[in-house]
Amino acid sequence: MFNKDFIFGVSTASYQIEGSIDADGKCASIWDEYTKVEGNIDDNSDGSVVCDSYIKYKDDVKLLKELKVNSYRFSIAWTRVITENNKPNKKGLAYYKKLAKALVKAGIKPLVTLYHWDMPQWLEEKGGFLNDKISDYFAYYTDVVTKSLDGLVTDYITINEPQCIMFLGHKVCVHAPGVEYNDKDMLHAIHNLLLCHGKAVKVIRENVKNSTIGFAPCSRPSVPTDDSVEAYHKCYDKYFELDRDGEYPNNVSIYSDPIFLGDYPKEYYEKFKDILPNITKEDLKLISQPLDYIYQNFYSGTYYSYNNKELKKEKFPFGYPEGNIGWLQVVPKALYYGPKFLYERYRKPIIISENGFCNNDVVSLDNKVHDPERIDYIRRYLLELERVSKEVPVKGYYYWSLFDNFEWHNGLKKRFGLVYINYQTGERIKKDSFYVFKRIIKTKKI
Ligand code: FCB
Repeated sequence: MFNKDFIFGVSTASYQIEGSIDADGKCASIWDEYTKVEGNIDDNSDGSVVCDSYIKYKDDVKLLKELKVNSYRFSIAWTRVITENNKPNKKGLAYYKKLAKALVKAGIKPLVTLYHWDMPQWLEEKGGFLNDKISDYFAYYTDVVTKSLDGLVTDYITINEPQCIMFLGHKVCVHAPGVEYNDKDMLHAIHNLLLCHGKAVKVIRENVKNSTIGFAPCSRPSVPTDDSVEAYHKCYDKYFELDRDGEYPNNVSIYSDPIFLGDYPKEYYEKFKDILPNITKEDLKLISQPLDYIYQNFYSGTYYSYNNKELKKEKFPFGYPEGNIGWLQVVPKALYYGPKFLYERYRKPIIISENGFCNNDVVSLDNKVHDPERIDYIRRYLLELERVSKEVPVKGYYYWSLFDNFEWHNGLKKRFGLVYINYQTGERIKKDSFYVFKRIIKTKKI
């Protein structure tokens, strides 16, 4: 059983749910541009309608109220609230103010993500994360948002999943903007991204009384196949390895070490000694200002066996349970080992900012959506979270997502929601998992 203060919430992100992509002076984001190119998105869909939340936000709040979540995590579209001349856009700001007001009135705490991947296209054209002024633009945007939401929002996440921004957007290029960086540019961009985080933290602390702040990376914990102490330590090392699987922009420590420990890992300076960006002491101080939480998005994990002093990555056997997306094998222990490893290294309370399951959900003959696999996933993962919460401070869990939505380059085919969306009619149907999650929130029992 979770304690009575445990936060249960659900998460969404602006581009994935809002629609109305050019309403009220909104300018284009990199996702608006990226989705225009035939073939970039599996089913050639885009964010122009999806859940229509820009228009139906009151219905969203009704659903949240019925679910009785303690908190709702949503993101702000930079492109709605700041114009191409870098000025505030009142109409865009009014939307988020209305939403936050409605949430507060319903007794639901807003948790605002400032950057969930929808960079203004005009800023991308100025170099995006390679522009050394990007952190000043981000600080200004943060200043405008926090002032506008003053008195309504105290809880902020600066940046969602830097790994996906850099690795998917700039290495394998399956996400917007799809611009490949060489290693030197990658390190430079990562440093600028961390500066965006740092400057935003400073602004939030200055503008918002009683603020709580975190950032929300993702990770795929290394899960030992046995309980030995040696296996635990080897998996811990693997989890934080700088160049795990040869994919350093997709790792944990390149982002979280500077933020929580005040510097990049030692191996970073060794490996990249010839192509380091300009890193000053002041930068590191700014980047590592104290945060309240480690947020973390966990969906799956990788099993490792440890025999004869050798750590070996294990393949998933044929028929292993998984969602209908390539990376989503059901590994509930990710919610045990992930928080344990993070706490051991960074010593901060942890909040799971995303966890969820996607499937080919359908409306059955009885007009309901039965999703036993999702229910099973949630319950198995929460059991592990409950187990670890007796050992390390875990303060909350946000299910991804409230409704089915635009799943980036996979388009509309991957359904993660507790609420089904009929993309032809806009109808919203609560799935069986909606009721189970509601029951879990109410009783705090899994
Ligand atoms: C995460 C993203 C989120 C959503 C889920 C399924 O990587 O943060 O927007 O797409 O995956």
